[in-house]
Amino acid sequence: MRVLVLGSGGREHALAWKLSQSPSLTALFVAPGNPGTEAIAPSLAVEPTKPADVVALAKLHHIELVVVGPEAPLVAGVGDALRAAGIPVFGPDAAAARIEGSKAFAKEIMLAAGVPTAGAHVFTDLEAAARHAAAGGPIVVKADGLAAGKGVVVADSGAEAAEAVRALGKLPAGQTVLLEERLSGPELSVMALCDGERAVLLPPSQDHKRLLDGDRGPNTGGMGAYAPARLLTDAQLEQIRREVMLPTLKELARRGTPFRGALYAGLMLTPSGPKVLEFNARLGDPETQVLMMQTADDLLPLLHGAALGALPERPLKVHDGYSVGIVLAAQGYPDAPKSGAIISGLEATGDALVFHAGTKRDARGSVIVSGGRVLTVCARGATVKLAQAKALEAASAITFEGRQLRRDIGHGAPAA
Ligand code: AMP
Ligand code: GLY
Repeated sequence: MRVLVLGSGGREHALAWKLSQSPSLTALFVAPGNPGTEAIAPSLAVEPTKPADVVALAKLHHIELVVVGPEAPLVAGVGDALRAAGIPVFGPDAAAARIEGSKAFAKEIMLAAGVPTAGAHVFTDLEAAARHAAAGGPIVVKADGLAAGKGVVVADSGAEAAEAVRALGKLPAGQTVLLEERLSGPELSVMALCDGERAVLLPPSQDHKRLLDGDRGPNTGGMGAYAPARLLTDAQLEQIRREVMLPTLKELARRGTPFRGALYAGLMLTPSGPKVLEFNARLGDPETQVLMMQTADDLLPLLHGAALGALPERPLKVHDGYSVGIVLAAQGYPDAPKSGAIISGLEATGDALVFHAGTKRDARGSVIVSGGRVLTVCARGATVKLAQAKALEAASAITFEGRQLRRDIGHGAPAA
């Protein structure tokens, strides 16, 4: 099968790495790709958010499956355009991707599907929202739309919440806001490969959103992840599949917008059970990097089956032990990442894997920093600690000016 992976981050590098091992693969391309994916598959130039361009590229290369990594192409309608052209695609149509693009829509789906989530009021009148917030206590204020990680404020008081409403109201994404019941508990990500009706779970994982060790510092796109995060039993995970994933798929299908792709549930394990904080319409980054390392199954038939609406409904085959992925971020990340530093030590990594994201080649062919999250260094081990030590050792060998990394990825893992 001829496959095109759309995107240029660590998630897409990991997907390409895993797909490249599939016996049924005959050709693999990544568009636009990065210096890391180039070692696996040719890069094709494309603007991933231009549906007509992606369709033309897929036709030119006789692609039989497109795997869409990031959300922006999905929201832009790349899934719709490929399906309309008869090209199977792993990734939902724009209407279904709204489950990520609009928190009010996600809440509406969850309520209709009976999925456990925080109670919320949706406001389009921001003055009314501010008044409502000011009159209450601790609450979570969320911008409806995509706000690059800046759309959620966990407020400790009514005054702080009202202030957050006004601040979010300055963003295009914040013209509708949600005032949400504030929950507490550990967080966990559960992703499923979905074919519109059926769902196959990937191992549960935990991301580490803050820049610094001990979950301090500013929010980022994610500084590292590990899997499996055994905060739930297998029976509880099956319950998540049946009581979160399947009803959500059913509700989307009932509305005529079946979801074919990766459904990502951000969960909080509250004293009254797991509740969904958010959905994403794609795989997580950096979670995918460790999930691909943990997956023993042939990924290609699963993604193709999901794209065609014919996913085999059986548990995913996974490796024993754990995978830890540590992000190496650029100097100044997340506020003002600095590009241009030469990266050294990429060659010698032992059996760790290094997935590229914000990298490019300069005129001399050296790999340099070109984005905020630069690399994800991943390793497997019998325990989270062993995997972390291996990943750290490999990460230490890779250097560039101002490199930032966390040394505590996996700290939330339950003691073995
Ligand atoms: P979201 O983008 O909706 O996942 O929110 C980002 C982060 O805000 C989450 O990872 C949580 O740490 C926090 N958060 C979101 N919703 C709630 C909630 N209802 N109660 C407490 N914390 C929340
Ligand atoms: N790592 C979180 C996300 O991909 O949304």
